[in-house]
Amino acid sequence: MAETALASERPRFEHQGIAFGCDYNPEQWDPAVWREDVRLMQQAGVDLVAVNIFGWAALQAADGSFDFTALDEVIELLHNAGIRVNLGTGTSSPPPWLTTRHPEVLPVVEDGTTRFPGGRQAWCPSSPVFRRYAVDLAEAVAQRYGRHPAIALWHVSNELGCHNALCHCEESTRAFRRWLRARHGSIDELNRAWGTSFWSQRYSDWDEILTPKLTLSSRNPGQLLDFHRFSSDELLAHYRAEAAAIRRHSALPITTNFMVTAHIRDLDYWAWAPEMDVIANDHYLDHRLGEPRAELAFAADLTRGLAGGDPWLLMEHSTGAVNWQPVNLAKEPGQLLRNSLTHVARGADAVCFFQWRASLQGSEKFHSALLPHAGTDSDLWREVLELGRIVGALDEVAGARVQADVALLFSWEAWWASDAENRPTHALEYLDQVHALYGALHDLGVTVDVVRPGADLTGYRLVVTPGLYLVSDADAAALDEAVAAGAHALVTFYSGIVDEQDRVRPGGYPGAWRELLGIRVQEFAPVLPGTRIALESGAGATVWAERLEATEAEVVDRFADGPAARRPAVTRRAGGGSAGDAWYLATLLDRAALRDLVRRVVTAAGVRREPGAGAEVEIIRRTDGETVWRFIVNHSAEAIDVDAHGTELVTGSTVEGLLAVPAGAVRVIREERAA
Ligand code: GAL
Repeated sequence: MAETALASERPRFEHQGIAFGCDYNPEQWDPAVWREDVRLMQQAGVDLVAVNIFGWAALQAADGSFDFTALDEVIELLHNAGIRVNLGTGTSSPPPWLTTRHPEVLPVVEDGTTRFPGGRQAWCPSSPVFRRYAVDLAEAVAQRYGRHPAIALWHVSNELGCHNALCHCEESTRAFRRWLRARHGSIDELNRAWGTSFWSQRYSDWDEILTPKLTLSSRNPGQLLDFHRFSSDELLAHYRAEAAAIRRHSALPITTNFMVTAHIRDLDYWAWAPEMDVIANDHYLDHRLGEPRAELAFAADLTRGLAGGDPWLLMEHSTGAVNWQPVNLAKEPGQLLRNSLTHVARGADAVCFFQWRASLQGSEKFHSALLPHAGTDSDLWREVLELGRIVGALDEVAGARVQADVALLFSWEAWWASDAENRPTHALEYLDQVHALYGALHDLGVTVDVVRPGADLTGYRLVVTPGLYLVSDADAAALDEAVAAGAHALVTFYSGIVDEQDRVRPGGYPGAWRELLGIRVQEFAPVLPGTRIALESGAGATVWAERLEATEAEVVDRFADGPAARRPAVTRRAGGGSAGDAWYLATLLDRAALRDLVRRVVTAAGVRREPGAGAEVEIIRRTDGETVWRFIVNHSAEAIDVDAHGTELVTGSTVEGLLAVPAGAVRVIREERAA
């Protein structure tokens, strides 16, 4: 197992300015096309290309024999064109000969059935056989290209755990038992942690323990939670094994592409992030969500949190439609630029896409690309050329950090535990609350850092904690300390309920923060879908109420009706002295009412808001400590004016006073004086 290097010792991703690039899958094309591809990449300003992402079958046609001829040629072509390579280990999807010879590497899902090859990622994360083959391939690739001057970055596998995170095969079962022994030490401790005295589940031997396969009733929540932790750790161990093989041959930075997104939740990226040399993320707009644009901003802010505030790489996004949603929407004219620069505004130092040239065959043939089926005589290609030009014009921003006064606490462990099989209501999921609170801040033009529970909160004026059901004592204390030191807090319902083993803290909810908030909840009282709840202020709410008493806090608003009528719905415990105020929200307010409450809280906390910013216009600042670059992303159908003095980088013009930002446009101002 590779040692985890200190962040300061890690190789850094060095690049001239903001990288512009894509996944490139030359194995799908004739070599004659490669030459045209490289020429067009140069025309578009592409300077970082990921290859060998799904290259295994092309490199290793049979066990034991590698053929690098084609990859050699592709890398040479790119190198000669001055394009840097983000080199994949190629281990994401095993070739058919491997799964035919070793069917034991295939994943088993929770109903106990095997998932077969023919798609991608058909492998068990705990399989030693798969691990051996994958590490051998990673080693062979690293050995061959470890000193090649074209290589800028190593790309381990691809989106680890996108499909295969939770495996229930016999190998996984054995690995789960080993992991549990290491975590709990003794079977008695495990029984305590999982609360197995309930429903006669007490274990007397490690060999009795299974992965949480499907049962007739609901499953043990402690077992499910530990299985999520185990599964995330297994894939991280896989990452480490491949990274160690690369490290034997190269000192360049190594990473893998995260999936910080609303529909993938199986990896605890807070645990993964410290092991990456640079953080990279894949993000696709999800039109199944209510507010895809705010979710993009949230994902970018969370990715920056994973990077500890440092710049990160947008490793994949799309120029237009994807192929995996029920209806795959094309982007509107200008949306490609707005999406891309929103990521840059929020800390990305690379704008990369899946993929270079749209496939003619395979599952993803209707997925957009930089070069569409329509070819270069297309509006999309012209937008790509314009984007490449603008990304080049922003090179000076690379390395700068984002400024934020507000921290929002987010946790994958809380997500797993909160969205349990049995819970007070299925009308709401963890992410719904997270997105609602983030959305209100976004509507108000407030820039937010998304950080882990327990993070250093020094310097934030406000810490927002939406629905953080699970929190350890130590992480809970970090919020108390931040408030004692002067930060304000806003905590919302169903936070601080259980400890890290999903054990309820008794004595009234939220056990972790009763004193901090000066409240005590006696009983949850969710309402049926469609039921409206009114507050005395006139605010509307849905989904949730609770029977709460304000022990030390002032009551800001009350439920006017519903199951908690006349009880407090919004409270505020005044900090007094140098401490901050601690606000609590006991229901899911309608969007406008939530925005009003959050406006009140951010105003009281002295949080800076960008004038003119809101849901339709995003304004974010990046700074290197001296220069400030202000990004203005105008999603609206109206032109807007902003006050500005400095140089506008997209148009290359000087601004003295008022800058007009046309409808749908993006502008980036290098401020003459730090605002
Ligand atoms: C990602 C993946 C790419 C491609 C893309 C399509 O999950 O890494 O290979 O499949 O999605 O949106």
